[in-house]
Amino acid sequence: MKFSVVTLFPELVIPFTREAILGKAQEKGLLQFDVVNLRDHAQNKHNKVDDTPYGGGAGMVIRVDVVERCLQTLDPASEVIMLTPAGETFNQKMAEELSQREHLVVLCGRYEGFDARTETLVTREISLGDFVMMGGEAAAACLMEAIGRLVPGVIGDQESHEQDSFSSGLLDYPEYTRPEVWQDQPVPEVLRSGNHAKLARWRRDQALARTLRRRPDLLGQQTLDVEDTITLWQLGVPLEQLQAWGAPAAQAQKKIKRKGLQQNQS
Ligand SMILES: C[S@@+](CC[C@H](N)C(=O)[O-])C[C@H]1O[C@@H](n2cnc3c(N)ncnc32)[C@H](O)[C@@H]1O
Repeated sequence: MKFSVVTLFPELVIPFTREAILGKAQEKGLLQFDVVNLRDHAQNKHNKVDDTPYGGGAGMVIRVDVVERCLQTLDPASEVIMLTPAGETFNQKMAEELSQREHLVVLCGRYEGFDARTETLVTREISLGDFVMMGGEAAAACLMEAIGRLVPGVIGDQESHEQDSFSSGLLDYPEYTRPEVWQDQPVPEVLRSGNHAKLARWRRDQALARTLRRRPDLLGQQTLDVEDTITLWQLGVPLEQLQAWGAPAAQAQKKIKRKGLQQNQS
């Protein structure tokens, strides 16, 4: 898979593509990075890519004709992405979708951003979130990290990203490593028990509890089974709410009665 990053500051982007896992993936031929200097397509004496805004106002705007000339020199792309705070908010689902593409062109803005007509040259507009950065380079780095790691072979253990936060639809369960006890806080016993079925259930329950505490909005988009439904009920979610989320509340209720289960105190 290839990323072509169009920027006025190639030196900000290049190191990012050379280090750590992205750098290794490039050496292995799994990912390819082409960092393109927009200024090379300016075609004027001072290599100017921007101009003052029509109608007045602060700052400078990147010219659409310069972007067009630059795009014409690139290999055909599956998607041409404009980075802008006004775009669709980037998320894991989008990263998964984009990781299936052959070639992504990523346009990093600066100053007041791109001339509005640049929208006609792109297939997608992506924002990293509701905040404004000075340029698109840090956003491009985020896209390369999030998308690149989903390309098969880039990270060693495929399972590890399937369990990540958002990939499973829930936040990730908590992880622990040595020391076994740190400042009177031991690693949970179940992680040292070697009981795989118990461990899998504990991790799922922890992921459910964490998602309920921090991102309850994600739970309505989940496929919840009877055990999940019971866990969430025990954590205080009413059966009516679980039913509204599409969970098998009636089946869970029968099991709760049969086993005499209680909701957790606190
Ligand atoms: C100072 S910003 C331009 C902001 C623009 N005037 C606006 O308010 O929408 C310059 C460039 O940074 C990048 N940028 C800033 N914030 C971003 C965000 N949240 N997501 C993606 N790109 C962003 C975009 O490429 C943008 O063209």
